[in-house]
Amino acid sequence: MDLNLTGRRALVTGSSNGLGAATARLLAAEGATVVVHGRDAVRTRAVADSIIAAGGTAHIAIGDLSTDEGADAVADAALAGGPVDILVNNAGAYDHIPWKDATAGVWAETYNVNVLSGVRMIHRIAGPMRRRGWGRVITIGGGLALQPMDAQPHYNATLAARHNLAVSLARELKGTGVTSNVVSPGAILVDSVQELVTSIAPAHGWTGTWAEIEAAATEDWIPNDIGRFGRPEEVAAAVAYLASDRAAYISGAIIRVDGGLIRSAF
Ligand SMILES: NC(=O)c1ccc[n+]([C@@H]2O[C@H](COP(=O)([O-])OP(=O)(O)OC[C@H]3O[C@@H](n4cnc5c(N)ncnc54)[C@H](OP(=O)(O)O)[C@@H]3O)[C@@H](O)[C@H]2O)c1
Repeated sequence: MDLNLTGRRALVTGSSNGLGAATARLLAAEGATVVVHGRDAVRTRAVADSIIAAGGTAHIAIGDLSTDEGADAVADAALAGGPVDILVNNAGAYDHIPWKDATAGVWAETYNVNVLSGVRMIHRIAGPMRRRGWGRVITIGGGLALQPMDAQPHYNATLAARHNLAVSLARELKGTGVTSNVVSPGAILVDSVQELVTSIAPAHGWTGTWAEIEAAATEDWIPNDIGRFGRPEEVAAAVAYLASDRAAYISGAIIRVDGGLIRSAF
């Protein structure tokens, strides 16, 4: 399927690493000019350079989206080269702390980083999209929004907030040519997830090669119909589809990329 993103400009927040980096690479491979974003300039530049080396077009924007000043800097850098047609709100942080350690301060800071960062970018980028009559706002949510686990309640709740605000935004953007949707990953194998699984493997009795540990962890921890963790490129593929004209009739939707981890029918 040709997604025909040539001529579109995309800002992928948190694309210095993980799901965001895979998404930036795929959007660029599909023809979009991509603004790679992160707080860490070296990592961010490395992703942009890899896109350019592969024949794509990429720029960078650096800033901490947990502050208004950081969001201003990122929006200004992204818009300096032209309008942004596709905003992927992906930046976020997670830990694995239990309820007893998740203080009110931890909840507030997590909400700021994981929810308000995206809101800041919507305020700065979606208005011009609306005026141009075409745009895509794609929010990365997560299965823990629907099926929260016992630990990291502050993080689970931020994913639910992301799902909720993205649907509200779709209603707000009615008739404008701008859509708002969610891609909701299950457990995806990024560096930090592999490190976490490796660190807790002995306690769970998951032994052997990484492939054997992944199979055992999948069965015990994130049972799904495919039998493995997802890959960043699989999340990126859903984002790329939603970013295209092929998805013009989809707004306010939540597309799960979780191997069937979430068991509800709706
Ligand atoms: N991996 C999964 O299994 C999974 C599942 C469901 C949902 N998600 C969501 O997917 C998104 C990406 O996760 P990931 O696993 O790819 O994580 P990751 O590898 O840790 O990447 C996180 C990205 O967000 C950026 N970031 C973090 N805090 C930021 C801040 N305050 N301001 C600006 N940028 C910030 C980081 O930039 P720098 O490091 O350059 O600062 C990095 O580029 C997150 O929002 C996460 O909640 C992940």
